[in-house]
This record gives sequence, C-alpha cells and structure tokens, in this order.
Amino acid sequence: MCGIVGIIGTSPVAGDLVDALKRLEYRGYDSAGIATLHEGKLARRRAKGKLKALETRLNGEPLAGNLGIGHTRWATHGKPTEVNAHPHISDGVSVVHNGIIENFKSLRSDLEKDGFVFETETDTEVIAHLIARELKANKSPQEAVRDSLGSLEGAFALAVIFEGHDDLMIGARRGSPFAIGFGDEDSPGMYIGSDAIALAPFTNKVSYLEDGDWVVLTGQGATIYNEKNEEIERSISTSMAQALVVDKGNHRHFMAKEIHEQPDVISRTLSHYIDLGKECVDFSSLSIDFKTLPRLSIAACGTAYYAGVVGKYLIEQWGGLPVDIDIASEFRYREPLMSEGGAALFISQSGETADSLASLKYCKQQNQKILSIVNVNESSIARESDDVLPTLAGPEIGVASTKAFTCQLTVLAALAIHIGRQRGVIDEAKESELVRSLVEVPRLISEVLAYEEEIDRISHSLSQARDVLYLGRGMSFPIAMEGALKLKEISYIHAEAYAAGELKHGPIALIDENMPVIVVAPEDRLFDKTISNMQEVAARGGQIIFISDATRESAGCDLAHHIVIPKCHEFVTALITAIPVQLLAYYTAVHMGTDVDQPRNLAKSVTVE
Ligand code: AGP
Repeated sequence: MCGIVGIIGTSPVAGDLVDALKRLEYRGYDSAGIATLHEGKLARRRAKGKLKALETRLNGEPLAGNLGIGHTRWATHGKPTEVNAHPHISDGVSVVHNGIIENFKSLRSDLEKDGFVFETETDTEVIAHLIARELKANKSPQEAVRDSLGSLEGAFALAVIFEGHDDLMIGARRGSPFAIGFGDEDSPGMYIGSDAIALAPFTNKVSYLEDGDWVVLTGQGATIYNEKNEEIERSISTSMAQALVVDKGNHRHFMAKEIHEQPDVISRTLSHYIDLGKECVDFSSLSIDFKTLPRLSIAACGTAYYAGVVGKYLIEQWGGLPVDIDIASEFRYREPLMSEGGAALFISQSGETADSLASLKYCKQQNQKILSIVNVNESSIARESDDVLPTLAGPEIGVASTKAFTCQLTVLAALAIHIGRQRGVIDEAKESELVRSLVEVPRLISEVLAYEEEIDRISHSLSQARDVLYLGRGMSFPIAMEGALKLKEISYIHAEAYAAGELKHGPIALIDENMPVIVVAPEDRLFDKTISNMQEVAARGGQIIFISDATRESAGCDLAHHIVIPKCHEFVTALITAIPVQLLAYYTAVHMGTDVDQPRNLAKSVTVE
C-alpha cells in the first residue's frame, strides 16, 4: 500500500506535496517522489528511503510549478529503489499509483512490442505507457486515461498529469481509497489524496470516489465520471481529519506516546457508549437487532483480528450470541456460508485494509447486515457499513497498533453488554456491574503503565532472545497472540503464541533454558490450568515471564520475571493484560535499536492484497 497526493494550486506546490506525503507516510515509507509541471514541462525528484531523503533532495534541487503529484511507497513490485519510486513518466505523462496492476506483465510485453522502453521493475509503469500510447493515437488526455483504465486489472488509486496541460489532473479509483479536496479562498485549488488526512492542511471539504469512478480536475473544480463514463455527482462532506500534524509530545516514539494515551482515549471511547449516570450502555444508534440475530461473523487482520478473537469470547460469554471469527484474507476466499438474516462485523483501525474490505463486500452480497469498528470515520470500510462503531483513539501513527487495539476491545466489551441485554442474558444488575468494571479500566491501565521502568529492565533479557513463546488461555490467548505480533513487528525477533493447553501437543519440544516464555495469566477461572502448563515449562528450564495479578508464590515454580498487574473484573482482563505485552515489545525494540514507529517491510495500512 502506498500514499498518493496531487495538487492544482495557485502557487508552487512542491512543499505542500511533501507535507501531504508526511501525513501519508504511515501507508508506506521505503521511497518517495514528486513531479511538477512548470511552464508546460514536467520535472521530477525521487529518493530511496524515508521522506527525509526526498526533502533533502528537494532542498538541493528545488522544483517549481503550481501543479504536481506525489507518492510515498511500500514496494509491491520492484525493489524499494529510486528508479522504482513513483512518479513514473512516459512521453510527457506522469503517474502515481496505489494498488496492484495484476495484468502488468501482459500489458508490459504488449507495450514493449509497440516500442515502449521500460525503466523500472514496477507494475505502475505500464499505466504511464498505456496513457502515452493512447495520446499518440491523437486522443485527449481525458480520452487517453478513460480508455487506458479498461485495460487494467487489479486495484488502483491513481493521479496523472500531462506535459503542456498546466491546469489538468486526472484521477481514478478501483479498490484503493481516493479522496478529492475542494480548496477555498484560504487554500485555493483542487487536491487529491489517498485519504482526507493528507488533505487536512489544505481543506476539510472532501468527496470520495467510488470503485470505477474517474475524475477530471482543474483549478476550478472536479468533474466525476462513473465506470460507464457517465458524469455523476459524489457528495462533498466535511472531513473530521485533523489539520495539525500529530507530534510525539515528550515521547521518544509515537508508539510510546500512543501506549500512554490509552487511559485517555479509552475514557473517551467509553463515554461514547456508556451512560455513566444510569450505569448502562447506549447503542441506540444501531440499526441491527441482536435479539433475533442467529449469529455474528467477524473478519479482520493482524491486531484487529486479535481484538475480534477477544470479541468472540466476550460476545458469546456475556452476550449469548454465537460468533464466527476469521482472518479476513482467508474469509474472502473461503466464501463461507452465511446465516440468513445474519450480520458481519469488520474491525479495522485504518478502515482501508484490502482483505477486510473485500470480506465486507462478500458479506454484503450475502445480504448480511454490516457493522464496523473503525478508527477513521470516513474510511472505505465505514462508508460501506450499515452501522459504524467508532473507536475514539485519535490518529494512530505508530505502525504497531496499541491504543486503537484497546479501544477496539473497549467497544467490543460495551457491545457485548448491549447484545446480552438485547438477548435477555444480562439483567440490569449485571449490566451495571460490567459497566462499572469498564469504567475502572483507564485507572487500572495507568497502574500498569507505572511499572514501565520494571518492564523496560525485563525487556533487556528479551532483546537477547532468538525466539520467544507467548502462552495464554481464554481471553488471554488472543492477548498472547497480540503480544507475539507486537514483538515480531517492531523488534524483528521471532515470536509465537499458543493456547497454553496446546503446548503439550508439540510446541513444548521448543522449551529449553534459552527460550523466554511469556505467560499471560490473570487470576481468572482458567488460572490453575495455565499454571500447570507454566510448571511444565519451568520443569524444562524455560525462562518464564509471568504476567499476572496473582502472587509470585502462586506460580509454584521458578520465574525469570513477574510482571504484576492490578486485580480486575474477569470481563476486562484483556484490556489490562494488553498493556504489559505492548510495553515488553516496545522496550525490546528500543534495546534492539530498530525503527519502532516505522519498522522494516511494514506499513500502517495494508490496502493491497
Ligand atoms: C498491528 O500492529 C499491525 N500494524 C497490523 O497487523 C494491523 O493490525 C493490520 O494490518 C490491520 O490493520 P487495520 O486495523 O487498519 O485493518
């Protein structure tokens, strides 16, 4: 997934393009570039590596021009090099692209037969040559783009500018997000971007293209066409994206800041779903009737998937509703049989994850009611949903999700109470009890954050490890999985999570004195079972890091470390145990010296398959 931006302005745009790309870096950051049009001529600057490299390049070799496009890349086809960086150019046509052109190989050989010479290993370059070939057939830029789109298979959000056309930019969308920004007297001009966040410094008046749309922009406005090339209107809404560039405050990394924001953003999210005075939940905006719903399907990716697994436990145990949970990339191709009159829930921080969006569209075809839990209200998943439950985590910049995850858990817990009330399995007294347990969470998380220095010290031992095992039972199993993912994605240490009861079925062969084993074991009804698994590990020399509100003595075996968590209601243990596994991963990565906020090979929003 990548980020694209385009500006038709009334003053030089190079600096604004870079500013917009800074807000899109979460989508990919292995190379970047911009192209501008000045006095009818195209000029381009690109650089390998983070956006800083492009800024340095531009400081030395500035670009003029009031029209331009920009791109920040997460390589799909072709190594992350300067040559493969976008924008790509062919005979006066310049293109930036987010997505994957699946038939690029056949298009490339066809274009090469027509004499086009390729400079890159990318799929995107075929788009520039396709449009250039149509222009050679004496078509207008609009006709050239329109007729090229029909040759493309796969996903794209793209922007094109043309030599000799100082007041023209053409964009198109199929499967990847595309926002149009409308300038005003303060910021005259027209804008395009992968999302409204990129456009926030210039305008909050945005439209979103739908799949198949393409758009012709001039400095005066936009003309949108659908895939039948009929002129259509798309509504203009006021984006809630914040204009200020989020900063790290007094933290070393965005991830650290976002870990520490959790008490506040969970409180903010809770206040959206809970009536504190009445000690009850409020989901009156929901159109889905859970009373008669036969079952709920959940699909998500990565951390959001682990939130969904916790959600399954919560909604089945306290909501009395059967739940299926699937990794979205499996769900979309398994094409599961859906219950008549069922509903599907999609959990996604970005709201743009391609596999989750594709799964949503499958469920829509199966006449399921669609519910989503997202952190970006104007996202593609939100726009496709019947009901949207926002997490109020604020922009999450660190690629490793933390505050969005615990806000997802917060929404799922409140939803479980709502479902339980609707289905008559929770009475008012139980509702008050569970609501009170949720209200306690911000304070309890603050208590865990107070152990930060201890966890930093413990993480030194992890930073020496080659492999790490995480164990948990019940709702602690998805927390173990989340902890393993956090460690993998920011420290690059291999980590695996297992249901503690599964250890004896093979993984215990891995245990020796070199294997740190992180055991997530709140003193709940599965505690004793987990302890016996932990003792099997200790008996084989495993180095145990015990995350529990129980005493060290209750472990009944040697421990390398004990991370004490505060006692809490069983209903909210996942929210509390998530914090130590986040901190362990964070400090291990800090000791490893990796790029915590922008780890290698990753991007914040995976908008490609
Ligand atoms: C989590 O730390 C990772 N960044 C990744 O697994 C992420 O959770 C996944 O890509 C899903 O993203 P989404 O929530 O935006 O859909």
